[in-house]
Amino acid sequence: MAGRRTLTIIKPDAFANGKSGLIIALLEKSGFRVKSARVMHLTMAQAGEFYAVHRERGFYGELVEFMTSGPCMPLILERDDAVGTLRTVIGATDPAEAAEGTVRKLYAESKGRNAIHASDSDENALREAGFFFAESDVLAG
Ligand code: RTP
Ligand code: MG
Repeated sequence: MAGRRTLTIIKPDAFANGKSGLIIALLEKSGFRVKSARVMHLTMAQAGEFYAVHRERGFYGELVEFMTSGPCMPLILERDDAVGTLRTVIGATDPAEAAEGTVRKLYAESKGRNAIHASDSDENALREAGFFFAESDVLAG
């Protein structure tokens, strides 16, 4: 059964551009409830570890640099089929390919600076939530 929680990050481009509130409004309108949230400026070590799965990719250095370029906003979100629904709501990695009305179509600048992260599986959602939040930071229920 698909899980009810996922992890998202409003990335440094969208946070710096003052789009956090608009993005959270869109997520809430899509049926998500915020279970935890914080604002933080990732270190190189944190960003590198978070995206370690992409370590061998050509864009890894650029990705770590971008994710550490300013504050970002991780949130734990909840609804039915959380991971699958959030991936649909954020849109394709490249905003040029993202569907109308998606977060990336509306707010992303480019494939690299693309406004938002979303977990891609229930297993990664659990791991990524634990990366930013203690269980005691997450609203129960
Ligand atoms: P995310 O993990 O951030 O939710 O993004 P995603 O699943 O849609 O895409 P993924 O393949 O996991 O890539 C992670 C992030 O790396 C940057 N990227 N840049 N310049 C490029 O070709 C390129 N490809 C990927 C993006 O910021 C992407 O979201
Ligand atoms: Mg990904």
